[in-house]
Amino acid sequence: MMKGEVNINSQTATLKPSSTVTFEKPTLEDGAAMWELVNNSTLDQNSAYKYIMMCEHFAETCVVAKEDDKVVGFVTAFIPPERQDVVFVWQIGVDASQRGKGLASKILNELISREACRDIRFLQATVTPSNKASQSLFKRFAREKQTKCEVSECFKEELFPSDEHEEELSYLIGPF
Ligand SMILES: CC(C)(COP(=O)(O)OP(=O)(O)OC[C@H]1O[C@@H](n2cnc3c(N)ncnc32)[C@H](O)[C@@H]1OP(=O)(O)O)[C@@H](O)C(=O)NCCC(=O)NCCS
Repeated sequence: MMKGEVNINSQTATLKPSSTVTFEKPTLEDGAAMWELVNNSTLDQNSAYKYIMMCEHFAETCVVAKEDDKVVGFVTAFIPPERQDVVFVWQIGVDASQRGKGLASKILNELISREACRDIRFLQATVTPSNKASQSLFKRFAREKQTKCEVSECFKEELFPSDEHEEELSYLIGPF
C-alpha cells in the first residue's frame, strides 16, 4: 500500500504519512479515554462507568481507533436481543483533530466486519435533526453498501427530562 493510501477492509489505515490508525476491540483501560472523547464533543455525556461497562460486556461490537496508542475515535454498539440481524450504534465519535478524513466510516466498516456481526443485515442509529455530520456519515454508509437508509421517528423530544434535548430520529440502514 502506498503512503497515504487507505484500505477500508484491513485492520489498519494510514491517514497521513507519519502515523497509522489501528482499529481494535476496546479493553477496560480504553473506557476512560472514550469517556473523555465524548466530553470534548457534542455527544450526550454519560458516566465513565457506562464506557467501562461497554468495554467489559460489548467489546465484540465496539471499536476503538488509535493513533500512536491514543484513542482518536470509537463506536459503542450492541445487538438488541429481539433483533439479532441489527447492530445498534449507541455512540460514534471522532476526535475533532481527525474529523473529515473518513475515520468514522472506517470504524463502521470495521464494526460490521467483526465475527460477532456475521448475521447482521442492518445497522441502526439514532440522530438528532441538527446533527448534519452524523446524518452524512450514515447516509454515506448506506450509499457505500448500495442499500436503503430509512429515517423514521424514534425517541420524541418529550421523552427527555429537560427541554434541551432534541428528538432522535432512527436511521435504519440495510439490508446489506
Ligand atoms: C459524526 C462524526 C463521527 C463523523 O466523523 P468523521 O470521521 O469526520 O466522518 P467521515 O470523515 O467518515 O465522514 C463521513 C461523511 O460525513 C460527512 N461529514 C463529516 N463531517 C461533517 C460535517 N461537519 N458536516 C457535514 N458533513 C460532514 C463527510 O463529508 C462524509 O460524507 P460524504 O462522503 O458524503 O462527503 C464526527 O463528526 C463526530 O465525532 N461528531 C461529534 C459526535 C457525534 O455527533 N456523533 C454522532 C452521533 S451518534
